[in-house]
Amino acid sequence: MLARTALRSVASTSRASAFSTSAARLTRVAVLGAGGGIGQPLSLLLKSDALVSSLSLYDIRGAPGVAADVSHIDTASEVNGYAADKIDEALEGAQVVVIPAGVPRKPGMTRDDLFNTNASIVRDLAASIGRVAPTAHILVISNPVNSTVPIVARTLEKAGVFDPKRVFGVTTLDVVRAARFTAGIAGVKPEQTPVTVVGGHSGATIVPLLSQNEHGKAISGDVYEKLVHRIQFGGDEVVKAKDGAGSATLSMAYAGAKFTNALLRGLNGEQGVITPTFVRSPLFEDKGVDFFSSLVELGPEGVQKILPLGQLSAEEQKLLDACLPELKKNIEKGLAFVA
Ligand code: NAI
Repeated sequence: MLARTALRSVASTSRASAFSTSAARLTRVAVLGAGGGIGQPLSLLLKSDALVSSLSLYDIRGAPGVAADVSHIDTASEVNGYAADKIDEALEGAQVVVIPAGVPRKPGMTRDDLFNTNASIVRDLAASIGRVAPTAHILVISNPVNSTVPIVARTLEKAGVFDPKRVFGVTTLDVVRAARFTAGIAGVKPEQTPVTVVGGHSGATIVPLLSQNEHGKAISGDVYEKLVHRIQFGGDEVVKAKDGAGSATLSMAYAGAKFTNALLRGLNGEQGVITPTFVRSPLFEDKGVDFFSSLVELGPEGVQKILPLGQLSAEEQKLLDACLPELKKNIEKGLAFVA
């Protein structure tokens, strides 16, 4: 019961109508990197999600232990853990694959500093997915997301199985932070301050569209500047506070479970599931930016519709102008890595 309650709150940002889980199709979800700081609590939250029928936990370290632990939770889904040499078994039949595998930041590091280590981890995992579960929906958490998503896309493309409707960068933590921080300033509940965050997932590429929310629109001047900076660099607060022990894990697990649940609801045919996510996008193709996060409607095949940005304030236009060239560089770096 507790687990169900937790799930409902994870699902609560949906603009969708009521949904009956009895009509849900059964979904096998794999987590690659399940033994890590994000992977463990993410696996816990996915075990609580009634839309997940089977959970497949893989890591080069510790996944069978996490699986044994999580499997005792009294929800219906079955859980299996897979050690380093069992990637094929872990991916067999997976319809959704969530990837939090890789190293996190330490104080003073940018997400791009993780590129050298994480790029090859993500590329190799994407190659396995392309081989074993070519029609799976892939949710990339591993940083730098601005580059790792293009790496996944290009790797699948090389294998002849890339479908832009099925590859997502998880930017939900930026959205979660934006709602929380804006609510704190406005003195209202976070449900009243949903903020669409567009662009990418690092520093200046994170563009919160505060003007599109009535409470966000009312924030100006110095307070506005500080809020934007906090949304863009909120991850640094956690890295600093953890003092060398990693980056956001618990809030990221929450955000990852929230996005996974949104995708599962879309796959199950729920109407009106709309959330920002980083996908292959036509919005700024003319500027050479082939991947972009914006509001996306999720449907039975994954990406159903990429929505336009809507009205931007002068400040937001400036943020977007600063985002695009940096994002372009990050994307090109990812694509070049696979090429
Ligand atoms: P962690 O170090 O605690 O866990 C990473 C896990 O990945 C470890 O258990 C490790 O054994 C595993 N791993 C490494 N290579 C692997 C491989 N080839 N196959 C399977 N598993 C492998 O790190 P944490 O804190 O969980 O972060 C994971 C990633 O998520 C980092 O890249 C981090 O930067 C990123 N992240 C992304 C966020 C986002 O908003 N998208 C927010 C916070 C972190």
